[in-house]
Amino acid sequence: MLGVVFTEFTDMVEQAFGAETLDEMIGGVESRLESGGAYTAVGTYHHNEMVLLVSQLAKQTGRDIDELVELFGQHLFGRFVVRYPVFFEGIDHALDFLETVEGHIHFEVRKLYPAAELPTFVCDRKAPQLLVMEYHSTRPFATLCRGLIKGCAQHFGAQLEIDESPLADEASGMCFTIRII
Ligand code: HEM
Repeated sequence: MLGVVFTEFTDMVEQAFGAETLDEMIGGVESRLESGGAYTAVGTYHHNEMVLLVSQLAKQTGRDIDELVELFGQHLFGRFVVRYPVFFEGIDHALDFLETVEGHIHFEVRKLYPAAELPTFVCDRKAPQLLVMEYHSTRPFATLCRGLIKGCAQHFGAQLEIDESPLADEASGMCFTIRII
């Protein structure tokens, strides 16, 4: 997983829970982190480190792991808006944007960062206000995906209803049915 994801995560933890919680979180799992918990935006780290950090944060704050990962997805989307404005040019509809993630955004990300480990999305725009988006990945980040979708809705000022159903025969796959309400 790219270092930028980790630095955005630690920034969010510091903003939302304070510097002490951040130190405690890293200190709590440091010995199990291959990186030792020192992340740089240009590095790459095993995605299991993210899983360990979030579990530790959940323990410390009493929050649910899924709730924290979703919160991070929403935060991350806001950061993508700032870091990569070019992907938002000429798009004013949340579902139109989500449809560009696979073929355009992640496609460009793969070119820029060959070490990136990205999911695959299969999209089916059933109607102007209805998108079915299948998330395929070997990594367990469907909840991050839900947070990113919610962040996208916020950015475009859309009210979304999101239904989820796990994909058969895939440990991490998820089918999101996203409807504008
Ligand atoms: C401007 C918008 C976006 C940019 C620039 C972007 C870029 C990235 C980058 C850099 C990563 C990290 C890859 C790695 O760590 O190796 C990533 C991962 C990911 N992205 Fe995006 N992304 C965007 C929008 C979205 C949206 C809207 C979704 C969901 C619908 C999404 C779903 C994911 C997921 C779930 C991962 C985690 C990796 C995995 O599950 O396999 N992304 N993306």
